[in-house]
Amino acid sequence: MLNIGVIGCGAIGKEICRAIDSKLIEAQLVAVYDRSRDNCERLLGELKNKPEVLPPGDLISRVDMVVECASAAAVREYGYAVLESGKDLMVLSAGAFTDPGLLKKFVKAAAAHNSRIYIPSGAIAGIDGLKSASVASIDKVMLTTTKSPEGLKGAPYVVQNSIDPGSFREKTLLFEGSAEKAIAAFPANVNVAVSLSLAGIGTKETRVRVFVDPHAERNTHEVTVEGAFGKFTCRIENVPSPDNPKTSFLAALSAIATLKKLTEPLQVGT
Ligand SMILES: NC(=O)c1ccc[n+]([C@@H]2O[C@H](COP(=O)([O-])OP(=O)(O)OC[C@H]3O[C@@H](n4cnc5c(N)ncnc54)[C@H](O)[C@@H]3O)[C@@H](O)[C@H]2O)c1
Repeated sequence: MLNIGVIGCGAIGKEICRAIDSKLIEAQLVAVYDRSRDNCERLLGELKNKPEVLPPGDLISRVDMVVECASAAAVREYGYAVLESGKDLMVLSAGAFTDPGLLKKFVKAAAAHNSRIYIPSGAIAGIDGLKSASVASIDKVMLTTTKSPEGLKGAPYVVQNSIDPGSFREKTLLFEGSAEKAIAAFPANVNVAVSLSLAGIGTKETRVRVFVDPHAERNTHEVTVEGAFGKFTCRIENVPSPDNPKTSFLAALSAIATLKKLTEPLQVGT
């Protein structure tokens, strides 16, 4: 049975641990770690089969796979040690890989130590189609994100350009540019922009548009891909996670689905 350690006991970590605890995933939750002891304790209180709370080094040595659902800083702090120990690493904070040097270093370590890095689809849909399409040539990948004014408040792009997201009466295009530029302009979108770029044509070529919509009730992502295969558009309206309004519920579900895929005999989908 797959022995799992989870780093990060917040909204996503909780859902993953509950899924293992309820046997939705055929795996053993061996240990958890969070820099907040309170968050660890709160999570443990919800689980029937309580894992140990271990510092990262001990956690890594006891498991087959470490699931990071903490922060980009945590990926930088613990990711390399996981791979160097020959253990697999699942990364939810995909935004850590805006640093191409870090990704290269991780991939090299994974290849040298026969470990694997998994980046679940997170809060977007369409990665499966994009991966298939990428086997042939791709002409265009476009991510169109629409948010409520509230969801855009404080983003570096609106602050630097003195834009008041609350001043718009109808859906309006605020930004269009490369994923590389969008990541700096709207860091809240970073995980989605990075996973899409990694699955397709990179942050320089992937295009991003950000709309503000005063009538929007949910964060919407639309992925359009064009290439030798034809064209597809995929639209997702995300419901926030019950434990963290900044995180889409789908992100936790995508991690659970990836773990299920790793532990089940039947594999469906790319
Ligand atoms: N891939 C995606 O599409 C996607 C979508 C949503 C969230 N995320 C990312 O997943 C991560 C977790 O999201 P969440 O909603 O569960 O966050 P959260 O804030 O609810 O929980 C994060 C937990 O990790 C802990 N933590 C943070 N940094 C740590 C560190 N360096 N060492 C140990 N513990 C640390 C915090 O104390 C907290 O308990 C975030 O980085 C978020 O950006 C990715």
